[in-house]
Amino acid sequence: MDTSREYDLYSQGFKRDAYRTFARLREREPVLHQLTLDASTEGWFVSRYQDVEAALRDDTRLVRDPALAGVHFPTSPLDELLNSHMLARDGEDHRRLRSLVQQAFTPKRVAALRPQVQRYADELLDAVIPRGHMDLVADFAFPLPTSVILAMLGVPVDDRDRFRAWSNALITPVLDAATADEAVRLLTQFTDYLRELFAERRRAPQDDLLSGLLAAEEAGDRLSEDELFSTMVLLIVAGHETTVNLIANSVLALHRNPDQRARLERALAAGDERAMPRAVEELLRYDGSVERALVRWAAEDVEIAGKRIPRGDGVILILGSANHDPQRFDHPERLDLERDPNPHLGFGKGAHYCLGAPLARLEADVALTTLLRRLPGLRVDVPDEELSYRPLPMFKALEALPVAWDAAGSEPA
Ligand code: HEM
Repeated sequence: MDTSREYDLYSQGFKRDAYRTFARLREREPVLHQLTLDASTEGWFVSRYQDVEAALRDDTRLVRDPALAGVHFPTSPLDELLNSHMLARDGEDHRRLRSLVQQAFTPKRVAALRPQVQRYADELLDAVIPRGHMDLVADFAFPLPTSVILAMLGVPVDDRDRFRAWSNALITPVLDAATADEAVRLLTQFTDYLRELFAERRRAPQDDLLSGLLAAEEAGDRLSEDELFSTMVLLIVAGHETTVNLIANSVLALHRNPDQRARLERALAAGDERAMPRAVEELLRYDGSVERALVRWAAEDVEIAGKRIPRGDGVILILGSANHDPQRFDHPERLDLERDPNPHLGFGKGAHYCLGAPLARLEADVALTTLLRRLPGLRVDVPDEELSYRPLPMFKALEALPVAWDAAGSEPA
């Protein structure tokens, strides 16, 4: 079988310079039919803003559940336990599952978490400031959002580091038997851990999201056991793999654009409260952490930009490319922290629009404001060639980001 691809969409080289590849795609092949990562199936890669946005909204013809498109993959009980959540469902089922947790993520409820997010951010910096350097990913960007989501759910925050390997196992593509075995081992540990936690919380409910979900499950028809597990797993993974990378990608972008950073610091010093929220939107557009949406399946024949996509085919919507489309954004390759309006697709669009967007925005705002304020002269401490990305097609995720800062750093505000 010919396994060659016209466009490299998976290598380390691609990850470092993805936006150049996306520019070529948008221009020459905006709906590209090409082999996907496993090199045995083909997918349609959509790269223009207009098409990506329309496809995200078209959630009756482009669906998440492959069975609705007549595609049936072999599944195991473990798959069911992990993949029966809102992001894997469509229509009424999707609405039911989303509505069970929606209330916890409204902007108002999330705003009340600010002091707690600030406390986590300060504690993490207190621990590293005397050192003068850290790996921003491991020492700050990872533990911050992870602690926040675990605390919201009611999972012991002290167990934070155990989730990293479990979460990684869930999002790493399985391409060989050894990876498959290891993934099953880790994910079984994950579900065993949750099973124990559920039993404990059933005995003694608390004021957390998990207790609310357990009550919904016990009430009968609103949430099955598989859905309960999957919802917890989805929220834990979303809390682990997204804001983490946004924080790291943003620090790298600010480092590479010192003029923009200086303007932002001046605006913050002048008390401009809109400056950081606006900057976060631009950082989501410029180098957001979710590069592609999860695959959609054509439930009927559809046409995108003149290409006919037959029922049952997979469609990959490249958010990172849409966000750099010059048809939608002036000078898209330019980081402009004052860009406004900024209709980026970094949180997706339509029915599956990111449930955690208010939380992610708050976390990024607190994280970046605190880093800039408390670590004067914050800079990336290795040459560009030493930076590498995790091999995850969906995410733009730095393996590590060594940073250093000037003096002793400063106290919490
Ligand atoms: C910067 C951080 C984040 C980014 C860039 C991001 C991005 C996204 C995107 C693009 C989607 C849509 C995926 C698709 O349509 O295929 C999504 C969905 C989702 N996100 Fe986020 N996310 C972030 C943080 C979070 C956080 C912190 C949570 C909460 C714990 C969260 C929870 C969810 C959930 C539950 C969905 C599925 C919604 C549904 O199916 O209705 N996300 N996110």
